[in-house]
Amino acid sequence: MRSDANIAGPMTDPVPGPRPADSEPVAVPAPVPAGLPVSRGTVAPPMPRPEQTRVMVVANQKGGVGKTTTTVNLAASLALHGNRVLVIDLDPQGNASTALGIDHHADVPSIYDVLVDNKQLSDVVQPVTEVEGLFCAPATIDLAGAEIELVSLVARESRLDRAIKAYQQPLDYILIDCPPSLGLLTVNALVAGAEVLIPIQCEYYALEGLGQLLRNVELVRGHLNPKLHVSTILLTMYDGRTRLASQVADEVRTHFGQEVLRTSIPRSVRISEAPSYGQTVLTYDPGSSGALSYLEAAREIALRGIGVHYDGTRAHTVGRQQQQDQHSMSEGLQ
Ligand SMILES: Nc1ncnc2c1ncn2[C@@H]1O[C@H](COP(=O)(O)OP(=O)(O)OP(=O)(O)O)[C@@H](O)[C@H]1O
Ligand SMILES: [Mg+2]
Repeated sequence: MRSDANIAGPMTDPVPGPRPADSEPVAVPAPVPAGLPVSRGTVAPPMPRPEQTRVMVVANQKGGVGKTTTTVNLAASLALHGNRVLVIDLDPQGNASTALGIDHHADVPSIYDVLVDNKQLSDVVQPVTEVEGLFCAPATIDLAGAEIELVSLVARESRLDRAIKAYQQPLDYILIDCPPSLGLLTVNALVAGAEVLIPIQCEYYALEGLGQLLRNVELVRGHLNPKLHVSTILLTMYDGRTRLASQVADEVRTHFGQEVLRTSIPRSVRISEAPSYGQTVLTYDPGSSGALSYLEAAREIALRGIGVHYDGTRAHTVGRQQQQDQHSMSEGLQ
């Protein structure tokens, strides 16, 4: 388990202070103590940088549940709070690249070249101009052919993993935006990551198909990547006015328990508008409910990484065993 000695100093939302030097551990005034009362309107707890790069796979084979929106907005939230973050766009639609304002027309060096042509990640990664410390490996339309081209290549499931391991930049987080399928692109992400983040849209049929994803996670963990686990579930497009949304949220929380972030993301017009300006909601409208909820979710993720669970009113530490317990999540799911 990580020590608490690397918790970053307090930050105020939403604009961060100066970022510390890349490889330096962040100076720490004090760890977040168990049971620390933190009320809304006061200074929120810090967003600690992890000791080691956390590679998070944002996956759900169901389309349109908020994978891309979650990837880019969490990435921006973390980067705005002093983390160095790389988004890998692994979806031929290239929506994450668009949302981050990254050029991804057909001739741009992209993640396709890394997976299929053995290019280095450093040859394709571009900085996101709007947010310091945020980078993107874009996807172009070429990636649509990669599922088939990968089939005949050596080590076809671990090509992304190999590229990430060869990428020597100091990073706190790598977030991988997966396509809405469980093909070789998603398998590459699952082999490369340690954590799976599943966005679940608060609507009817929300859990349908999740069993398949979870069984794939178990298969990859069993055969290719023993570190892999579902660390985070995020409820998206939550509309508190409808009974359906709260029923779905209850069902997800009952089924998955503590992997579900306490913060859920509301349905918000600002969130859906931001990509058309090549921006995340964090820069498009930093004071909006969508921006604040993604910041809050990012804070929870950062704190959970050091074993602190935080629900917006109080923080409490979680034992290692409790953190590592992975019940069989796919039980009872289709
Ligand atoms: N919280 C939200 N409020 C309003 N609109 C949202 C929210 N989250 C996502 N959307 C919108 O819902 C649509 C689907 O979101 P997104 O593209 O993130 O899903 P996805 O799971 O990545 O989709 P795909 O499976 O096609 O990759 C987009 O138009 C997005 O702008
Ligand atoms: Mg997407």
